[in-house]
Amino acid sequence: MGPLLARRKFAMAKSAYIHIPFCQHKCDFCDFAAFAGLDDLSEEYSRVVVQEINQRLNKDPNAEKLATVFFGGGTPGYVPPQQLANIIEALRQNCGIEANAEITLETTPHTITPEKCASWQMHGINRISIGVESLQDFELKAMGRDHTRAQAMSGARVARESGYDNLALDLMYGLPEQTLESWSDTLDDLLSLQPKHISAYGLTIAQNSPLLLRFPRDSEKYPSEEIFEKMYYMLVDKCEAAGLAQYEIANFAFPGYESRHNIVYWKNEEYLAFGVSAHRYYRGIRSSNFRGLKKYMREFFNDETAEEIDTDNRLKEAVFLGLRLRAGLNLAEFQQKYGVDLLVSKAREIDKLQSFGLLDLTAGNLKLTQRGVLISNSVLAELI
Ligand SMILES: C[S@@+](CC[C@H](N)C(=O)[O-])C[C@H]1O[C@@H](n2cnc3c(N)ncnc32)[C@H](O)[C@@H]1O
Ligand code: SF4
Repeated sequence: MGPLLARRKFAMAKSAYIHIPFCQHKCDFCDFAAFAGLDDLSEEYSRVVVQEINQRLNKDPNAEKLATVFFGGGTPGYVPPQQLANIIEALRQNCGIEANAEITLETTPHTITPEKCASWQMHGINRISIGVESLQDFELKAMGRDHTRAQAMSGARVARESGYDNLALDLMYGLPEQTLESWSDTLDDLLSLQPKHISAYGLTIAQNSPLLLRFPRDSEKYPSEEIFEKMYYMLVDKCEAAGLAQYEIANFAFPGYESRHNIVYWKNEEYLAFGVSAHRYYRGIRSSNFRGLKKYMREFFNDETAEEIDTDNRLKEAVFLGLRLRAGLNLAEFQQKYGVDLLVSKAREIDKLQSFGLLDLTAGNLKLTQRGVLISNSVLAELI
């Protein structure tokens, strides 16, 4: 067995993703495993997740203490906090959680109350990620959200006043009805809330999205490509001027407040995952749970998909994910970890992308330029 293989075999996951699929309302643009109107199932669901954790981890005598836990969704902040506490307890009992672990909870702004914050804190949740999406009522309405600008501002303030300093706020751009001016106002108002972290995603629309019924793809209500680009540059400029560094294509943070959990994904490290539709990368295998809620609850112990990641794919994923980080790939580290010199194996592609101004190679770090970020999917496809 070569050294690389040996290292892989014993690489352990120190991060866990938990999917909580319940929402107060299903937004028109959302393609996640997220369900409204099924609140009655959440208690039983949390018990199934606990069973899944017990079953999957019990078999593993080598499980390591967790350094990060991420409750994503859906809207984990919508369900009774005790259900989250039971899941945290199951993780603690099976593998342990480090004393200074990052434990994140995603939520909509209008689910946040001082009582819930106190309860989340009591259970060890120390980072809140709020889906603000826009601070314009007409945009929120157009995209099918069920909260207002005032509720979004108030949710963030309540979380802060309840002691959540580590606050992450999500925005979206490229929205129907959105203009460069409204985006500028949203960014200014969001920054006035002084979040430690901002994620900003360009809208993606699934093929059968309900949003398309009101705003078909060719609708003039969407910003043009040119405006979309300006929105991206405005986002980067305003965040950086406020002290939030762009550390990943869509993520900005004050130093020390980068999402430790998400960095695990981008560094191509392994992680556990539990809950409906959850995807994990563990012991060299990427696998996922059933996407259908009832099917998952009946068959939580089975995978819907499972793929062993061979060396070739592991390299490709490392490039694909690593270049999302604005620091880029350190080529010496990459060679040490994967045994491949990208400057040799990808010489032609790197040269070409550099000459188009899409990739930058400085001091042994390969990274996307800002133009490269805007068309990152094509650039990365060319490279891998
Ligand atoms: C699970 S949601 C966040 C928590 C909560 N459910 C909410 O919506 O406020 C995660 C984030 O993904 C982003 N998102 C969801 N659907 C998207 C889409 N179609 N295109 C781009 N971003 C999307 C939004 O910014 C959203 O806040
Ligand atoms: S609240 Fe969040 S997870 Fe739920 S439907 Fe809306 S965007 Fe999706």
